[in-house]
Amino acid sequence: MKVTVFGIGYVGLVQAAVLAGVGHNVVCVDVSEARVKQLQQGQIPIYEPGLESLVKASVEAGRLIFTTDAAQGVKHGKIQFIAVGTPPDEDGSADLKYVLAVAKTIAQHMAEHRIIVNKSTVPVGTADKVSACVGEVLAGRGVDFGFDVVSNPEFLKEGAAVADCQRPDRIIIGTDSAKVEERMRELYAPFNRNHERMIVMDVRSAELTKYAANCMLATKISFMNEIANLAERLGADIEKVRQGIGSDPRIGYSFIYAGCGYGGSCFPKDVQALVHTAEKAGYMPELLRSVESVNRRQKDKLFAHLNAYFNGDLSNKVIALWGLSFKPNTDDMRDASSRVLMESLWETGARVQAYDPAAMDETQRIYGNRKDLALMGTKESALNGADALVVCTEWNVFKAPDFDLIKDSLSHALIVDGRNLYEPELVEGYGIAYYGIGRGRSV
Ligand code: NAD
Ligand code: UGA
Repeated sequence: MKVTVFGIGYVGLVQAAVLAGVGHNVVCVDVSEARVKQLQQGQIPIYEPGLESLVKASVEAGRLIFTTDAAQGVKHGKIQFIAVGTPPDEDGSADLKYVLAVAKTIAQHMAEHRIIVNKSTVPVGTADKVSACVGEVLAGRGVDFGFDVVSNPEFLKEGAAVADCQRPDRIIIGTDSAKVEERMRELYAPFNRNHERMIVMDVRSAELTKYAANCMLATKISFMNEIANLAERLGADIEKVRQGIGSDPRIGYSFIYAGCGYGGSCFPKDVQALVHTAEKAGYMPELLRSVESVNRRQKDKLFAHLNAYFNGDLSNKVIALWGLSFKPNTDDMRDASSRVLMESLWETGARVQAYDPAAMDETQRIYGNRKDLALMGTKESALNGADALVVCTEWNVFKAPDFDLIKDSLSHALIVDGRNLYEPELVEGYGIAYYGIGRGRSV
């Protein structure tokens, strides 16, 4: 099928590459000339395992092209995906300006019926707004080609985005049109082979399903972080508790890892956006508000541990930091816990020596050159001359470090482990002080 994708970010690029990979013919449109140029030259702007080879194969086969020419995009696809950002507005609500700008563009150029698919994460009622926007532009042009607006939220995780799109747990389609459902079934047929993954519902329920999924996962994390904070005070170990409760299939093992808070471009903004939607609808979302505030507090924990250990004087201390991205297998630093820690440390006059397997360039882009940040080439060199080590991201390369080297390199032989990668007794056996999250120890 002929498909057009507006927005070549994490979602748009991965979705386009996966669709082209099974034989669809995809045109990708972005307003960023730099991004389009990069992709036309075969460079992939994001770090995502498996993406580069997938894009390359489809580009070579002539099934995937990148352009800034919106008219070409609108002409191409019977199906038009909107996969642009929906960042938080000042009040926490999702800013729809990019989504509505694409809707307008499609309406300005369309010359026959189009199915417009909302892939971006958008509040309930957005499909109606997109319909109104398209209808208004068409009326202004004095034409009536007919169009449908579908909600088809995306559930991929960064770092596993290609695999998630190739083998989705579910494909949510929000539409009340049987014809549109048929077209969407045809589009997704290659991903819906062995068992039925497609769940069709009304548009508003589909829009809410996306927020409910992210907020449920964020809730699990904040719940565990709250129990971890309690475990610290009660001398219990959250890792034992996690295993104990995860073994109940009604609870399950996933997304119950306590840590230094959730980050990324989605959970923080989507919890905020649903809070806003609820308040606007006249409902006080007490649980969701707490999910957010527990997370905000959790991101301060690493700093609090360090500050307590050094008796409130971190000036001129050097902190080795392992892990900058908001989670492993990505270079994404949006709302990363490492940023909260670094910024707090800098305020006290401490310096940071950081290493991350993928996010060094992104950190440099965000913070530029500053005296109190040294970006180191290896995790070992980040330890040289440092007072203490903090782990912020659970990259595999941090999981079995040389503890003797850590002890010898650090002036204070202290590890603050924001992802509970190590066993406290093991680390302490090397003569290193250890603070994890909820491991029965507080400073
Ligand atoms: P992104 O910021 O990585 O990419 C958005 C792209 O859209 C950019 O390249 C930007 O230049 C482009 N763009 C902006 N305005 C445009 C326009 N008028 N025409 C064409 N292109 C335009 O965003 P993302 O992370 O891919 O997220 C997109 C949406 O998907 C968001 O609503 C997000 O919440 C949702 N989502 C993201 C993820 C994720 O893991 N990143 C997962 C599921 C859902
Ligand atoms: C999340 C969802 O998992 C995806 O399904 C969704 O499509 C996406 O948001 C989105 O809407 O954009 P992502 O943000 O890529 O995906 O990353 P996750 O793997 O969900 O991790 C989010 C944060 O939670 C990370 O900072 C991670 O460290 C933290 N986390 C995760 C925990 O602290 N504990 C856990 O048990 C799991």
